[in-house]
Amino acid sequence: MNVRQDAIGNIFARWRGTEPSAPAVGTGSHIDAIPNAGKYDGVVGVLGGLEAIRSLQRSGFRPEHSIELLVFTSEEPTRFGIGCLGSRMLSGTMSVDVARRLTDKKDVPLEEVRRDAGLSGSLEEVKLTNGYYKAFVELHIEQGPLLERQKIPLGVVTRIAAPASLRVSVEGAGGHAGGVLMPDRRDALCAASELILAVENAARTSGAADTVATVGICEVFPGAVNSIPSRVHLSVDVRDTNLERRDGVMRAIEAAGQTIAEKRQVSIREELLNADAPAECAAAIIEALSESCVRHQLAYTPMVSRAYHDSLFMSRIAPVAMLFIPCRNGYSHRPDEYASPEDIARGTLVLAETLAALAA
Ligand code: GLV
Ligand code: MN
Ligand code: MN
Repeated sequence: MNVRQDAIGNIFARWRGTEPSAPAVGTGSHIDAIPNAGKYDGVVGVLGGLEAIRSLQRSGFRPEHSIELLVFTSEEPTRFGIGCLGSRMLSGTMSVDVARRLTDKKDVPLEEVRRDAGLSGSLEEVKLTNGYYKAFVELHIEQGPLLERQKIPLGVVTRIAAPASLRVSVEGAGGHAGGVLMPDRRDALCAASELILAVENAARTSGAADTVATVGICEVFPGAVNSIPSRVHLSVDVRDTNLERRDGVMRAIEAAGQTIAEKRQVSIREELLNADAPAECAAAIIEALSESCVRHQLAYTPMVSRAYHDSLFMSRIAPVAMLFIPCRNGYSHRPDEYASPEDIARGTLVLAETLAALAA
């Protein structure tokens, strides 16, 4: 395969088809991880995609459309605070100007990180044209318990839920934990605690099981046992399959922030990091995936992805679909995440046949 890396670090490995100028069929995922992560999230889609291509090569198949494996940069928000950096830029969902203003969690600008990684190309060249891909299909672990519970080995994704996230800063007043009396306090952590519960409540009362909201980061300053917290940073992550409902939860969180700020005499600033629309998967790819499952007498079920993926952003420039395999107990984003070799092999087989059908 011909391998290239773009200016944001996305890696492309292309197996040239007999019609090299025709739109390619893409597959792939990510190999970065969150803190305390497992080993399968993303990696299954990269190694599974590589093995699918190699097995097609071994079988003597010759694709008409090129087949391309993609390894996306920074799918997780771990380093730059926003997920799917590589696919956001490939699809033009994130502008070059916004990307240039990003800093990592040590405040190192993206441009410096790129330079240190040897990525000297221009960010303007990252965006792919509409029509670059004929189809994009991503293999991934489910990251939830449904396939395992239903004893179904494969899930064909029809829709990807809409994610949004906020960075929240709460500013109160610090002081001596012994000296400042309770009526005089403006404790930033106490205010943040009320907001965290308001986030949970907003999702719980949305009326739909698909609404989820999480505060996963809480940084407390100055972080001393005998000092009143003066400042707190929170992350808020909200998702739903329904965009209006997701945005309703976002508005409820904003309103709760104003009420709490007034009541506790602190300032609460909410910065919207992303609010993305959901994606619909393409009927033709869903059909190709389903046909392969049927051919091998593998049970499958249509499903919604509640996690986000690079496919969410690739859907802005290409038809996409995803194939899910079970993961033990539905565990993901934790070190005991696991998918069996048998499940990975089944997913890779169906992926390979789907790539072949789309690239023929
Ligand atoms: C991806 O890792 C997600 O948070 O859905
Ligand atoms: Mn992940
Ligand atoms: Mn992933």
